[in-house]
This record gives sequence, C-alpha cells and structure tokens, in this order.
Amino acid sequence: MELTDPIFNALLMYTKALSVALGYRDLLTRLHSERVQGLAMEIGKHCGLSRTELNALNIAASFHDIGKIGTPDHILLKPSKFDEAEWEVMKQHSEIGEKIMASTELNGSQQAALLIRHHHEHFDGKGYPDRLAGEAIPICSRIIAIADSYDAMAVTRSYHHARSHQEIMEILDQENGIKHDPELMHIFCGTIESSKHKAR
Ligand SMILES: [Fe+2]
Repeated sequence: MELTDPIFNALLMYTKALSVALGYRDLLTRLHSERVQGLAMEIGKHCGLSRTELNALNIAASFHDIGKIGTPDHILLKPSKFDEAEWEVMKQHSEIGEKIMASTELNGSQQAALLIRHHHEHFDGKGYPDRLAGEAIPICSRIIAIADSYDAMAVTRSYHHARSHQEIMEILDQENGIKHDPELMHIFCGTIESSKHKAR
C-alpha cells in the first residue's frame, strides 16, 4: 500500500505529537530530525522518486529517530561514549520507531515504517538491524542514512565538535561504498552545495 497525500497528512499529524514529546526529552534529536528531513527531501527530489515515495521519505526522515522515545534516559542523554551493552540498547531505536510508525495502521504507514527500520543499514551489509546490503536497502533508507550522517557531523555533541563542510565531505568520501550508496552520494555532493543545511 502506498502513502497517498491524504494518508501522508494524517500520518504527519499523528506522529508530530510524538516528535514533540521526544523533543521534551531530547531537544537535540528533534532539531536534528528536522534538518535530516530537509536534506533527505533535497536528495529525494533529484532521484526521480514518485510522489508517494517522496511522501514516505518525508515521513520517515522526519521521524527516523522517533524510536528513541523508548531509549532510557541514562543512555539517550549519556554525555560520553556507549559501552557495548548500552550500544545494543541504543540500536533498538530503529525497530522501536518502525513499530511506532506501523501502529497507526493507516494505509501506507507500513511503507514509512520499513524505511525507519532500515535507516542504519550500511551499503556493505554491516549495518543494523538486518545487515541488508546495496540495493536490498530501500532507496529512501539509503537517502536518510546520508542526510543523517552529514547532519550528525555538522553539529556539536557532547562527544564531538561540529565539523566543517569540507571535513564532513572528506569523511563521507572515505565511507563511500562502505556506509553509503556511491550513486546517491554523487547526487548528494551536488545538492548539498546549494542547501540551506550546508555546514560552514
Ligand atoms: Fe537513528
């Protein structure tokens, strides 16, 4: 079932309240999600996606980390690196997010839920939760992964400083074909230059 415009609007309304709720626990994640949505849609529009695919991308990018609402505070707000057990708990957010999105049971919500599930898969098959590789990863999840990585590096967090645009692009270049889809990275390199989300 595809995500048509009326369902898209309903799903956006249902989920927005949850996103605001997440913002009260972790404002940084909420603001990050808004920028990832902007970046992902810029890439998506250059990929020739259909209207319903763009709707699904919009919803999934906006709420890709909504599952963090189920992450305990001592992990979600931890100012230092995770140990192995904490990292395993943090990784559950993509599957929790999938369940939250699918729980509306609106036609098409499953499509967006699946994109959320796979937003941390890596192009080489070493991501999570399903270790999908290459084009087995939904294209919209591959797009969200690039936007997510870029924005995560562009802002200051307790465990790293904000990086410059050039520094980020050098890191993304090293991860090209490993973490990210080379064809989509090529499109991203063009769209980021005129994006309002471009880092300094
Ligand atoms: Fe995430």
